[in-house]
Amino acid sequence: MEFLLSPLKIGKKVAPNRIVNQPMEGNDADEVGNPTELTCERYRNLAEGGAGIIFLEALTITQESRARKNQLGIYEKTAPRLEKLIQEMKGINPESLILLQITHSGRLSVADFSRVVTVYPSEDPHVHVLSTEEIEKISDAFVKAAVIAQQVGADGIDFKQCHGYLCAEMLRPANTRKDRFGGSFENRTHFFTETAKKMISAVGNNSFLLGVRFSVYEGIPGGFGTSGPQEVMEDLSEPLAFARLVEKAGFDYLNVSAGIPAITPEIVRPSKNYPEGVYRHFGWAREIKKAVNIPVIGSGYSYLRDGDNDLKDLDPKRRSFTYWAEKNIGQGVCDFVGLGRQSLADPLFAKKILLGKTSEINYCLTCGGCSIQLRSQVQTGCVVFSEFYKKILKEIQKKQRNDISRL
Ligand SMILES: Cc1cc2nc3c(=O)[nH]c(=O)nc-3n(C[C@H](O)[C@H](O)[C@H](O)COP(=O)(O)O)c2cc1C
Repeated sequence: MEFLLSPLKIGKKVAPNRIVNQPMEGNDADEVGNPTELTCERYRNLAEGGAGIIFLEALTITQESRARKNQLGIYEKTAPRLEKLIQEMKGINPESLILLQITHSGRLSVADFSRVVTVYPSEDPHVHVLSTEEIEKISDAFVKAAVIAQQVGADGIDFKQCHGYLCAEMLRPANTRKDRFGGSFENRTHFFTETAKKMISAVGNNSFLLGVRFSVYEGIPGGFGTSGPQEVMEDLSEPLAFARLVEKAGFDYLNVSAGIPAITPEIVRPSKNYPEGVYRHFGWAREIKKAVNIPVIGSGYSYLRDGDNDLKDLDPKRRSFTYWAEKNIGQGVCDFVGLGRQSLADPLFAKKILLGKTSEINYCLTCGGCSIQLRSQVQTGCVVFSEFYKKILKEIQKKQRNDISRL
């Protein structure tokens, strides 16, 4: 455990170890976007788990940009409750870095409770295409969210550019807007560079961390990581240029993801349907790491477990999380290893790994239950190891059966 256990400087702060709890939406905020007791319980457990970095899930920067009915929000109204949550987490564990992921859902916002908007015309001609002024206002809301994150005691933010939400849409070659936010690579990255500049001056020159999670390859025509509006083959030229630009902007880290959960979920979340997806994530992180000097977080590690998976190496040890985490950090593929679904299955995962109590780990089965819950707009968690979430999934399935039988 030589590498996993070693602390690492990130910006002006230090992460106590190399395990990261990736942002994972629980869809359990109240109607305003405040954390509820259920939200706080999830994060108290993660604080207890002691990962080097704990991300708080995608927090919407306005109430009209939600993809989930009960999405956590980050605006003036939710600041007091966010502050209390962070204090509770820091009280349990003052060492782990707590970073808040801030987002606007763009065309993935849901019309029942939000406003569906897009950066460039979508397949649905009724979706509102944002004007230049509206985009500028959204940029200001991101800056405000970063300031609130700092005021409520977070160690930093993650300016979300991944998984198909508004900022990811902005980066795509398919974004052929005619104003300064579309067309050339320089224009498509304007939203990021302009907002980043304002954010840096608003949060001041101190230790507050700023970073980005982005999808290096989305797997759709004209998606990020392709070479043109009609192209679909992977081409990392732009993602590599973007990574350098994020570093140049003065940001402190990069969290490398891929895919769009709503469209290309198999790219985002490796599972038994495509075990080798984990290797693709390793490769993407390695390419980004070669391009920058700031710390890089790799994604897609939950499927590895203790080697009980369908990867092809005959030795289960060489298929396990610990093997790959040590190897990848040791060989400079990434600096941190990120776990999404595994942190739902066992919030104490980091602690158990670091203390060598691996036999006590509840390993994620990558069954997809948490994703079904999120898509169904219900409270989301592990449907295998928690009776509470298991019951919620059963209710969804019962409702689906009833709906089918009524057809
Ligand atoms: C239920 C659920 C919620 C998620 N919420 C977020 C989120 O808020 N922000 C984000 O960037 N990714 C989110 N993701 C993606 C994960 O962070 C992660 O990238 C993905 O699950 C693959 O990593 P894993 O193999 O470790 O699970 C979510 C995934 C799931 C299944």
